[in-house]
Amino acid sequence: MKISALDLKKQIEPIRQEIDAAIKEVIDNTAFILGNKVAEFEQHVVEYSGAKYAIGVSNGTDAISLALLALGIKAGDGVICPAFTYYATAGAVAAIGARPVFADIDYDTYNISLKSVEKILSRKNKVKAIIPVHLYGQCADMNGVLKLARKHKIKVVEDAAQSLGAEYRGRKAGTLGGCGTVSFYPGKNIGAFGDAGLILTNNKGLAEKLKILRNQGNKDKYYHLVLGRNNRLDTIQAVVLDVKLKYLDEWNKKRREVAQYYNRSLAGLPIKTPFVPDYTTHIYHQYVLRTTGTNKKFMDYLQAKGIDSRVFYPVPLHLQKCFKYLEYKVGDFPEAEKAAKQTFTLPIYPELTQEEKDYIIQSLKEFING
Ligand SMILES: Cc1ncc(COP(=O)(O)O)c(C=O)c1O
Repeated sequence: MKISALDLKKQIEPIRQEIDAAIKEVIDNTAFILGNKVAEFEQHVVEYSGAKYAIGVSNGTDAISLALLALGIKAGDGVICPAFTYYATAGAVAAIGARPVFADIDYDTYNISLKSVEKILSRKNKVKAIIPVHLYGQCADMNGVLKLARKHKIKVVEDAAQSLGAEYRGRKAGTLGGCGTVSFYPGKNIGAFGDAGLILTNNKGLAEKLKILRNQGNKDKYYHLVLGRNNRLDTIQAVVLDVKLKYLDEWNKKRREVAQYYNRSLAGLPIKTPFVPDYTTHIYHQYVLRTTGTNKKFMDYLQAKGIDSRVFYPVPLHLQKCFKYLEYKVGDFPEAEKAAKQTFTLPIYPELTQEEKDYIIQSLKEFING
């Protein structure tokens, strides 16, 4: 049997006609940049998320850079990021000339460790913002993050790239800090047909700034108020996403059911299933397991069985070559380093069949039991 990490063909097939019609309308109107269709999608995200404003942008990486710029983060400022996340969280910081300041993660949740953040903030440094990442689809401990941010007067950008639809104490991920950023990379729970992203905020002034920043720094064409960028959301992507948004909660629910099935089937075995604290829901962008051994052995075995298991992420950010100039070293963030060696995924998406789920569990059990 061959089971991929994700099967977008299966997701698209039942909604193909709706998407084709939406794309056709954009082509018929030859309105490809911003316009009503982008505004309509943004309004639907506002209704979905409960945020006051949603600003569609080019991708989830640019969303972070723009959010930082709108919040006044400048070249040379320090921005705290978890050491265990996708590269783009810190890449977006470096892209505006700011300096990523890494923090360790929690053993159980893989999200940013408040203790580690507190330690950083207790030192004299130029930290001006923090980016908690809601990794794999569940929220970081936002009350703790917001409390520390208030105390130290730093800005908060939630990286909700992997978690649109997850809730922190009944509020949607991305709506709790100064800005929240979303990625619609095709493999996300709701993905575009290319690159796309979005920024959420409850602050009118920030929303206005972001609309100007994403569009070459102008409000009225050819009158450039600030040094903006070309970071608009393509209209074609907006209409695709607008169709998909209606199905997001149903898809997330199905992912949760797959995760619950895996959890039940693996109970009692020497493998750590995902821990979900009571302050957050989980939308299982990834279903991540942890072994006391090395993840590569598990991944290789499952891959040999035709199961597309992955490691997200094999190298923590403080040890990536591109961040060598920040002068971190092995041992600086032990939990991030351990997670990179011990965690691996099982395929998870709404369309997985019972037969496929059973085969995945049976193969994993075979390996665990020798
Ligand atoms: C945690 C995280 N942050 C940021 C990004 C960047 O998003 P994008 O690929 O849309 O630029 C991603 C995903 O790709 C991500 O997973």
